[in-house]
Order: sequence, then C-alpha cells, then structure tokens
Amino acid sequence: MDQKKIIIAGNWKSNKSEGEVKNWFEEFAKKLKENSSYTSEFIESILFVPSVYLLLAHYLKKKLDLPISLGAQNISPFSEGAYTGEVTAKMVSQYARFALIGHSERRKYFQETDELLGKKVQQAIENTVEPLYCIQDEKTVIPKGVHLVAYEPVWAIGSGVTDSPENANRIAEMVKKRKDIDSVLYGGSVTPENVRAFIHMPSLDGVLPGKGSLDPKMFWEIIQAAKPQS
Ligand code: PGA
Repeated sequence: MDQKKIIIAGNWKSNKSEGEVKNWFEEFAKKLKENSSYTSEFIESILFVPSVYLLLAHYLKKKLDLPISLGAQNISPFSEGAYTGEVTAKMVSQYARFALIGHSERRKYFQETDELLGKKVQQAIENTVEPLYCIQDEKTVIPKGVHLVAYEPVWAIGSGVTDSPENANRIAEMVKKRKDIDSVLYGGSVTPENVRAFIHMPSLDGVLPGKGSLDPKMFWEIIQAAKPQS
C-alpha cells in the first residue's frame, strides 16, 4: 500500500528574536545530523515564520541544507501599491512556498472576513504561493483554488485540549468531498505525544502545531513521531 506523505507545518505566530531564529535553525540542523533517519520521502516539513524573518530563514535553511519549506503567516489582499505596512504575495514568493490564510487569530484580532480572505487566496495563487487555508469547522467557506486546508477548532488552539482524532477525521472527510481539496491537516494543541493519533486517521494528512513548533526539539519530536515506524 502506498504510504501517504505527512505534512508537519509549524506556525511560530508572533514569536522569536533574530538570535532565537538562528538558534532554532542550528538546533534543528543538529538534530537532523544526529539522526539521519529523517526522510523527506514520507514527511514534508513547513515552517510559517514572521515575514520579517523570511529572508533570514531562507538563508539559514540553505546554509544548513535543511529539508524544510518556508511559509508566510500572512499576505496582503492587494498586489502592490499604496498600502502602507502590507507585505505582498509577490514579495514573500521569493522565499516562501506557502502562505497561511484564514487563521482564526487573523479573523478575531484583525477582523478578516471571508471576502478579504478570498482576495488573499487569489493573490497567493497569482504569485505561485500555495495557500494553506484554515477552517474553524465544517461550515467555514473555502475559497476556490485552495487545495490544502487545516482544520483548527478555535477552542483547541493553545488550550492544551485537542479535538478527538475521530472528529477531526470526520471534518476532513467532509472537506475532501470537494474535489479540489487534496490534503487536510489538524491543528490545535498538537504535541509529540498526540500527533500519531491524528496522522493515523485515513482522511488527515498532517498537523499544524503552533506552540509545538517554537522549540526545535519539540518540533523534531513531532516529526519523529509522525514518521512511519519500521
Ligand atoms: P497551538 O496552535 O498548537 O499552539 O494550539 C495551533 C495554531 O494556531 O496554528
């Protein structure tokens, strides 16, 4: 039977200093060196870093030869122009393969609406950045052109309490009824201890840890736990 590729996507949110970013990459590289059993055949690791660190992370990942893709945590709904403070999809596309769009924290603290999020998805696609679109439940509207989704129930984010793997799988199954959705991740209090229960579910393709990605050792342990066990 074909082994599905598991996506482990870390979301740093608004955390880390420049020095801490360097330490994270160096520590992660050390783990990788000590344990050569990382296999990009089965695991795809993505790291969503604050935009200001994309260039540094891009440089470090190349220098240390790390099998990690980078993602932006946010992009502008506009292509370019007089939009003070905005970072466009075109700008991040030089460093990021992915963009996180629709996270509940952006909806809650920055009043992002379905309409605005649809524009961000459009911008991402036009600039060959792949949107990882967050949904809060099965009723969240998913814009056209999205192939990768993360189901993140609001109450499970940062709470230490996860949804049940069975319910997360049920939502993923429903979402995948839409032909254009290829992969669904689960997010909300993912740890090295609970990750296996989620990735074993037939309709789930990976996880999106927030807190669990801040410490490189913990992120590494999540990857190790998600690896197919021989
Ligand atoms: P958490 O965050 O793992 O800290 O719960 C998940 C997320 O919001 O992406």
